[in-house]
Amino acid sequence: SPSNIHKDFPILFSEQQIAERTAEIGRQIDADYAGKSVVLVGVLKGAAIFLADLARSITVDCTFDFVAVSSYGKGQKTSGAVKLIKDLDLPIEGKNIIVVEDILDTGLTLCFLRNLFEQHRPRSLRVAALLDKPSRRLEKIEADYVGFKIPNHFVVGYGMDYAERFRNVRDIRLMPPDYPEMH
Ligand code: PRP
Ligand code: MN
Ligand code: MG
Repeated sequence: SPSNIHKDFPILFSEQQIAERTAEIGRQIDADYAGKSVVLVGVLKGAAIFLADLARSITVDCTFDFVAVSSYGKGQKTSGAVKLIKDLDLPIEGKNIIVVEDILDTGLTLCFLRNLFEQHRPRSLRVAALLDKPSRRLEKIEADYVGFKIPNHFVVGYGMDYAERFRNVRDIRLMPPDYPEMH
């Protein structure tokens, strides 16, 4: 049925693997920011799930903010154009910012955001990306915290979508390349 079609998609990372890696990144952030405060900036919508879990894996003082940008249409290809849909709510000048992303692909999204945020003069600016697809990179940008490096496969679940679907799938799954376009 349409509601459980994702069960046929192969699992790339299980819930447990994701949880263990997220806990490790959390411990790293705790060590790096000991005694400091951080602002976790989630990039909607994909990063929502990772931000929720990463935030609960750290113990340093933290606040949340969210931006929304979009570069993908309904299909699996990037349009190359990044649009800011929702700006930060709070000033970030003088703050330690960690931009939280589900996946770093071409780098267009993060490059756009880094340039935008740097204009607001944060104290520090780092990036945490659960997934990294280095083979797809078009911009020179790397994440400071990376969950897993992956080959060039389209993935869904744990916040990541295909045509807005599958974000609530608990593990990260491989999208079959022949999956039909949805309307
Ligand atoms: C996806 C993903 C990243 C971005 C990575 O977001 O969540 O934010 O693309 O791709 P890039 O490195 O090539 O820019 P998308 O634009 O699909 O929006 P969404 O988070 O709402 O799904
Ligand atoms: Mn996104
Ligand atoms: Mg998307």
